[in-house]
Order: sequence, then structure tokens, then C-alpha cells
Amino acid sequence: MKTLHSFAEQLAALFPSVEQIPEQFRIEPLHQRTYLVDGQMKTWDGTVHQVYSPVHLRTPEGQIIPFHIGSYPLTGEAEALQALEAACKAYNNGRGLWPTMSVEERIECVEHFTRLMVSKKDEVVKLLMWEIGKSYTDSVKEFDRTVEYIYNTIDALKDLDRNTSRFVIEQGIVGQIRRAPLGVVLCMGPFNYPLNETFTTLIPAVIMGNAVLFKPPKFGTLLHYPFLEAFKEAFPPGVVNTIYGRGNAVVPSLMKSGKINVLTLIGSSRVADSLKKMHPKVNRLKAVLGLDAKNAGIILENANLDAAVRECILGSLSFNGQRCTAIKIIFVHRNIAEEFLDRFCHQISKLKIGMPWEKDVMITPLPEPHKPDYLQECIEDAIAHGAQVVNLHGGARFKSLFYPAVVYPVNRHMKLYREEQFGPVIPVVPFEDVEEPIRYLEEADHGQQVSIFGTDADQIAHLIDPLVNQVCRVNINSQCQRGPDTFPFTGRKDSAEGTLSVSDALRSFSIRSLVAAKLNPENKAIINTIVREHKSKFLATRFIL
Ligand code: G3H
Repeated sequence: MKTLHSFAEQLAALFPSVEQIPEQFRIEPLHQRTYLVDGQMKTWDGTVHQVYSPVHLRTPEGQIIPFHIGSYPLTGEAEALQALEAACKAYNNGRGLWPTMSVEERIECVEHFTRLMVSKKDEVVKLLMWEIGKSYTDSVKEFDRTVEYIYNTIDALKDLDRNTSRFVIEQGIVGQIRRAPLGVVLCMGPFNYPLNETFTTLIPAVIMGNAVLFKPPKFGTLLHYPFLEAFKEAFPPGVVNTIYGRGNAVVPSLMKSGKINVLTLIGSSRVADSLKKMHPKVNRLKAVLGLDAKNAGIILENANLDAAVRECILGSLSFNGQRCTAIKIIFVHRNIAEEFLDRFCHQISKLKIGMPWEKDVMITPLPEPHKPDYLQECIEDAIAHGAQVVNLHGGARFKSLFYPAVVYPVNRHMKLYREEQFGPVIPVVPFEDVEEPIRYLEEADHGQQVSIFGTDADQIAHLIDPLVNQVCRVNINSQCQRGPDTFPFTGRKDSAEGTLSVSDALRSFSIRSLVAAKLNPENKAIINTIVREHKSKFLATRFIL
């Protein structure tokens, strides 16, 4: 207990004084008082939400307090409904400027936006670090990955458009089949990838001709502010509108209006479930969701332990385990459990814990204020049911810093067996028969991914076949992850609805629509005139180069 106490003191010592923050990472508080609706930056003089960084600061008096980094509008239901009206007006039942614009013109607007976005990189990376405690390296990666995703989306749309710039003739009927927008999209991203996971739905939704209402996540809100002028400049009024305020105060009225055509949310299945039910005409609502996950790592008796340890560290502790794709439970064959745990804990002891700007830092402050209490509660519950924390200092905490804890042996009576901890606690379950982890996955509410570690091709093949029907990605001797972004990202059960990837997202935010005619001389002449004289944006054979 004494060690834990003094280790907590060591954790406390990691928080800096203002002078200790390197010059290039210092930040001035950002007090956002405007938001974008209907192509205008509206001024807000109502209540605001104060934003505190998970990075605490040491005061000259020696106190350690959360750093106040700004505030943003807490707009209400009325403002949300104004944003909805603006989006409906821009879409205008599919007759608006944006949904009827040519694909080429829409691409130009997105390219314009992206150029403006790139100019904000330094500011946004810094906000990512301060708002959610993400390391500098990972914050830069998140920004660059998002920009690359947008450019790949543009290329994918060009391909899609080229493939549909032609007619098909079947059974005496000529048709042109393209993808058309769906309407008004409500887009909400998560705090752990507030930029990337918001934009990987928002950009495909916009580029396909929809109008968007976009609500930034609770943690990771300010970092979107530098983009608002860029949205305003690059897109026609009402195509992108922002919504601030408490989700439970503003989102229900949007859903109950029946005017939302697509709900896209990367977040919890409980929230998605209740929002969908609020829509008065459920059949008119499409949902594109990335939800809860409890991905398992399965370490077989013959596994290469170096690879298993390396990938399980990355899988369970990148960004403190706060990834939907994180490995959140590890099943290890009983005969190698001790050796695996020794090596795993040894590697954890080498991880750097500290502030987001520190080189090679892996464990950083957690943005959710109640998370350390919850993680401790999970550990206490596991201990009460017979497990132990098996790594030195595991579970030590100070304010927002939480030292990773490896908990062993975990069993089905513990919270950690089923609950998605979304933080630096790693439950490890010993097994004798590989049927045990398979059964776990069958019974689970989640079905995103799994990682199998082993060296016997027969045994791995024997696992792949049942597991691809339980989850949507089986990783071999590799951590679970979303990327590359051209791979389909989805899940079964409560883990997802719809598929995201560069090309899948374009499909998710659109529907196939076609023009067809019986092939007779009169129709041929009409179609030829429309195409030759470029009278329609849809019925056209223009080829984007
Ligand atoms: O939080 C979920 C993210 O989509 C994970 O993405 O696997 O590339 O870290 P990632």
C-alpha cells in the first residue's frame, strides 16, 4: 500500500507547472462564442460550457488543478431546430443547389475545404492534445490520416462516378444508374477520435450531396472551431450546420421532428438505440453506426509470445486503451499464461507515462473525469471475485493519470469480463480448451474484431471459420484496428450498423437511383438530346478526369 501511495505521488509529479510546458505546445484559452448555421456565424451570448484539459497544472502554491482551456456555447433546442431548418432548406427535398450540383463541382468544394483545413493543422493538433490528452505524435497522425482519408474519398467518388457515367441496356430498357443523396444527416463523432471519426462520416455524407447537422463530441469540441469558417467558405449555406449543447437537451427534438434521414453516430449502442426509437417514421431513417466493442485477443499455446506481447500492448494500451478497436480482454492458454503475463507486465513497466507533448509517451491523462473511479471500481470488483492486479503499480492513479493494470485471472462473474472498460485496464482470462473463448464471443453482445495469436496454420484456420461469423475482422498475430481505411470497418450485434471505409462510406450515405426508358425511337431521341446538350446533371455521360 505504501508503494502504491508513493507511486501515486510520482504520478502527481508528472503534471507540470506552466513554465514547464514547452513553448511550442503552450495554448491560449479559446472562448468560442460563434457557431455555424445556414452559412452564417451566429453569435451566442447565452450559457457556455467551460472546458478543462485532462492535463492538470501545478500552481505556484503546489496545488494540482485542471487547466482551463476555454469554453463553447451551450445552445439549446431552439438553436438545434434552426440548424435543422437550415439543413432542410439547403437540401430542399433534393432540389437544393447542393444535392443537384454535379459531382465534379461538389468535389471542388471539398477540395477547397481541405486546403483551408490543412492550414489549421497546428492549431487543431494542439487542441487535440489539450482537449483529450492525446500524444503529439498520435494527434498529428489523426490529423494527417483524416486529410488522407478525404483525398482518398475524392478519388473513390471519381471512380464511382466514372463507373456510372454510362448506360446499361437490359431487356429492351435503357438505364443510367447512379448514387443519389439521402437528405439530412445528423452526424456525431466520439471523443477518442474527435476529428477523424467525425470527418470519416461527415465528409462522405457531404460529398454525396446530403446536408449535415454536425454535433462535436463532448470532449474534443473546441478543436472543430478553427474549421467553421472553412465550412462556411467552401460550401453553400446550410450544407454544414453545427449544433452545440448537451446531447440529451438538443438531439431528441431533432430525432422527433422526423426530418433526419440519416443518423450517423460513433458512440454507445445505448444512445443509438434510444435515438433511433425517437424517430416517428423509423423506416425513413437510415443509421450508420460505430458502437461498443469488447475485442478479444486469443493467445494459443503455441503462440510466438514476442509477437503476442507486442501486439497486445499496442492493441490494449494505444491511447490508453481508449479505442473502439482496442483489445479489451485477453484469453491466454493456461500453460503459457505465466510466461505471457511476465513478459506482458515487463513491457508495460517500460511504457512511458506523462504529458501529451513528451517524446514516446504512451500513457497520458484521461479526458473523462469519472473514468479513473470507474476503472478502480472494475478492479475492486475483480479482486472481490478472486483476481489480482499482477503488474507493479497497476491501478495506481492521481487525478486524470491512471497507471495500466493487468488483472488476472478474470472470470465471468466480473464486470471486466463483459463491460467495455475503454481505458488502461487489461483483463486476462486463462483457458484450457479453445472452445472457451469461442463461446465467449458467441455469447457476447459485441461483434467487432478478434485477434488470434498462434503458429499452427491448421489450428488458426479452424478458428477463422467460426470467428468470421461472430465478428467482422479476424486478425492473425496482429492487433485489432480499423485501418487501413480502405478496408471495411463494421461489426455485428451491438457493435455497428452499416459499413465504413473510404468507398463503403460513399455507399452508406447515398442510395442508388436510376433513369430508365423503353428503347424506342422517341425515347432514344429524348435521351440523346439531354446527354448531348448537357441538360441534366444526373442523366449524363461526362467523365471526370
Ligand atoms: O475508436 C475506434 C477507431 O476507429 C479505431 O481506429 O483502430 O485505427 O485506432 P484505429
